[in-house]
Amino acid sequence: MYASEIPAQLRDFAAETVQAAAQLIRQRRGELIEVNTKSSNVDPVTEVDTAAEEFIAQRIREARPQDGILGEEGADKASESGVQWIVDPIDGTVNFLYGIPEYAVSIGAAIDGELVAGAVINVARDRLYMAALGHGAEVRQGNDAHALRCRTNPDPATCLVATGFSYLASRRVQQAQLLVELLPQVRDIRRMGAAALDLCRVAEGSVDIYYEHGINPWDFAAGAVIAREAGAEVSHPGFDSRAADGDLVWAASAAASSRWQEVMTGVDLLTPLRS
Ligand code: IPD
Repeated sequence: MYASEIPAQLRDFAAETVQAAAQLIRQRRGELIEVNTKSSNVDPVTEVDTAAEEFIAQRIREARPQDGILGEEGADKASESGVQWIVDPIDGTVNFLYGIPEYAVSIGAAIDGELVAGAVINVARDRLYMAALGHGAEVRQGNDAHALRCRTNPDPATCLVATGFSYLASRRVQQAQLLVELLPQVRDIRRMGAAALDLCRVAEGSVDIYYEHGINPWDFAAGAVIAREAGAEVSHPGFDSRAADGDLVWAASAAASSRWQEVMTGVDLLTPLRS
C-alpha cells in the first residue's frame, strides 16, 4: 500500500515535467529537423522526439533515481521503488511534423502496475491535463483551471467517437472494414492524430468515446488516468501489450459505457487485430 498523497505528488511531478518538455519542443519546432521512420515508412520519429525523451528521462533519473521508466523512444529502466513512469515525448508526431496543433507530451505513473497519475500537455495550444487516482482530473490553460467531467449522453447513436489508425497498411484495411460497420451507428467519427489527447477529449467532453486497436502503453497511460478520474470507463490491455498485438483500448463516458459495449460486441471491435 502507498500513502494517499503519493498519486498527487506523482501527478505534480508529471505536470511540471510535461510543461518543461513542451517548452523544449516549442523551441526546436522551427529548426530543420531530421526525420527517420520506425514500424513502417509512414511512422516517423524526429530528433526532437528523441531529445524530448532524453530530457524527460534525465529529469526522472535525477529527481527519482529508484523509479522505472518506459519510453516510446527506447527509455527502459526497471523500477526499484515500485513506481514506473510511462513516457511519450511526442504523441502525434505526424501532426508535429505538419504543424497541426494536436500533439502532446504524455507522462503516466504506475505503482506496482496500477496507473495512479498522469499529465498530458497539448504542446501547440499549451493546454495541460492532469489527474491523480482519487483526486479527480483537471485542465489548465492560461488563467483558466477547471475540473474535467465526461459528457452524460447515454446513447451511442448520438455519440461523437474518436479513433485512430495503425501505421501498418494491412491493419488499416481491417480498421477501415470495422469503421464501415460502426460509422452508421454513431453521430460521427473524428481522427485527430494523438491518442493521449483523444483520451483527454473524452475527459473534457469534446468527444464522448475513443477506441483504437494497437496503441502502445505510452500512448494511453496518462490519458487513461485522466479519463477515468473525469468519470469515464476505460479499458486497456496493460503495459506489456505493444502495437503489434493489436489489442483494443477504449474509453467512454460512464453514461454511454454499457450501450457502447453492446455496439462494440455487435461490430466485433473487441477482438484484437493481429495482422
Ligand atoms: C500515434 C498517435 C495516433 C495513433 C497511433 C499512435 P505517435 O502515436 O497516438 O493518434 O493513431 O496509433 O501510434 O506515433 O504519434 O507517438
